[in-house]
Amino acid sequence: MNWSSWLTEYYNDELERADAACRRGESVYDALKWIDDPYLWNVLLWKEYDGFKAIKAAIPDPPDAGTQKNWSGRSGMELGAAVIETYRLLHDKLRRHLDKPFDQCAVLDYGCGWGSVLRYFMKDVPLRNLHGCDPHKGIIQVAQRSNPHADIVLSDSLPRRLPFNQKFDVAYALSIWTHLSPVASDTCLAAVHDSLADRGLFLLTIRPPAYASYEPISKLPGWDQQEITETLARKGFYFYPQSYPVDGEMTYGETIITKQYIERHWTDRFDLVDVGMNGTSPYQSIVVLRKKARLH
Ligand SMILES: C[S@@+](CC[C@H](N)C(=O)[O-])C[C@H]1O[C@@H](n2cnc3c(N)ncnc32)[C@H](O)[C@@H]1O
Repeated sequence: MNWSSWLTEYYNDELERADAACRRGESVYDALKWIDDPYLWNVLLWKEYDGFKAIKAAIPDPPDAGTQKNWSGRSGMELGAAVIETYRLLHDKLRRHLDKPFDQCAVLDYGCGWGSVLRYFMKDVPLRNLHGCDPHKGIIQVAQRSNPHADIVLSDSLPRRLPFNQKFDVAYALSIWTHLSPVASDTCLAAVHDSLADRGLFLLTIRPPAYASYEPISKLPGWDQQEITETLARKGFYFYPQSYPVDGEMTYGETIITKQYIERHWTDRFDLVDVGMNGTSPYQSIVVLRKKARLH
């Protein structure tokens, strides 16, 4: 696709105005918050077009294609085609469940990787309200280089608390609880819970039980579908360790969590307000939790 032609065909005047605003030094939020076509925003974010130089300069650069592929499996607009659907899904859930204007919310991307999703929110929320953390030192350096003005910091794999001195109205964790061990899940959930404001929303993705038969995962050595089904029926949580130990604990691998497990183990602190499918990625179910307000 010739994206330059597409942009000038449909949005030339608006983009000329936004380009002038960026040239005057306005933030991405101030210059581009008028955009309500998420696909227009997607095209701008990936910068695979000519012209509108000041907009391009104001939007942070994604890392090189190799890093994107290593971390996210795809790169450029191909990756954007997947991320935009996740972004739309998050928006859809926020529109339904948030009880405060999104642009006034403090937002946390928990396990942000290089910040591929966080940057999508730059037109919705002022940058000072956007925060990200991840325990992988290398990827945090990439994220900080890529988006130097965002508050993106290193966290622990088994955090006693998160590295922020504030509470969040919204936190999201994409492809994180799809990987955590039971201990890491409990520890990270407690830390995120602690960092949320009363009635704050936590949106996370999990693997549904059908993931047990998903190829090529089901071909992993020792991946026993019968045993997984039995474990899920008994405990509601199945974890297949991969990676390396943290504090003697294998914290990361392949994880399946049932809805019943969440109802039994998490609803003392959270209300389970929504569970649904990500249409373009059906093995990443989305769960929306609301932190219960403390009784004063
Ligand atoms: C599959 S990537 C997803 C990255 C990003 N959320 C996205 O959707 O592109 C998983 C991320 O989880 C991070 N991670 C691993 N253990 C974690 C933990 N205990 N708490 C938070 N993040 C963790 C990894 O460093 C990695 O960036």
